Amino acid sequence: MSAKLRKAIIPVAGLGTRLLPISKAIPKEMVPVVDRPLIQHVVEEALAAGLNEIILVTRAGKSAVEDHFDRHYELETELEKKGKTAILEALGAIAPPELKLTSVRQGRALGLGHAIHCAAPLLQADEPFAVLLPDVLVKPQPGSQAVDLQAMVAAYEKQQISQIMVEEVPLERVDQYGIVDCQGVALAAGESAPLVSLVEKPSPQQAPSRLSVIGRYLLPGEIMPILGRTRPGAGNEIQLTDAIAELITQGQAVAAWRMQGRTFDCGHVQGWLQANQRLGQEAGLL
Ligand code: G1P
Repeated sequence: MSAKLRKAIIPVAGLGTRLLPISKAIPKEMVPVVDRPLIQHVVEEALAAGLNEIILVTRAGKSAVEDHFDRHYELETELEKKGKTAILEALGAIAPPELKLTSVRQGRALGLGHAIHCAAPLLQADEPFAVLLPDVLVKPQPGSQAVDLQAMVAAYEKQQISQIMVEEVPLERVDQYGIVDCQGVALAAGESAPLVSLVEKPSPQQAPSRLSVIGRYLLPGEIMPILGRTRPGAGNEIQLTDAIAELITQGQAVAAWRMQGRTFDCGHVQGWLQANQRLGQEAGLL
């Protein structure tokens, strides 16, 4: 895995059932977090880490996500006429010149692994790529400048092996996540260590650790053919976790990278409200 990381796949085809009724007529990725839609935070995170080629895996009814990154000539002309330069600049910053955004459709909801595989035709053979799950916001600790995805990309460039961002969760919540097995290595924040396996949504009794996959992955192109033949696993869905486990079985090194910042799971109402409350306060708006 030696090619430069440029591409980030962001799956946005989910139904957003945990956010209903908010997400009935608007994509869950468009819910506001402080002053911008959730998806804009995630694209900004990718851009800040040098991942400027974004591939959205989307579906019917979600065009607002793509529209958000497109030009809006009527609005821009009106704002220009009225001399509203600050708002115009804020709009321009949504899609800076380096952002290259494409999209591909996931026709059927067969799971995260299937969604990622839908982007395979948009990658070069064996091209490494990032995956960012947009439900989860990753932000530095208050007052810290340490940006986790940037640091993880740096770790990838140094070690030249796949990286998966993890954080510790209470034992009673391990069954909501992919859980990694680093053979008991005590991983400090900002460090990475090779993992020997990972398992999707284990019971607390079967979990190999409390280190959970939070939805930021740097993966080799070799995983695409594996995803193409991965059978449905947990929840009867084609799981990205299972394909990564297979990659390790085939002898590819994969590291767990323990994050330094904090996460907000905006895929459910409580996490989304917490993100708005905490980040709104920190921005001096509440
Ligand atoms: C997905 C992944 C899981 C990961 C989680 C992070 O699960 O399959 O491994 O821990 O995202 O949010 P989902 O939340 O889609 O069920």
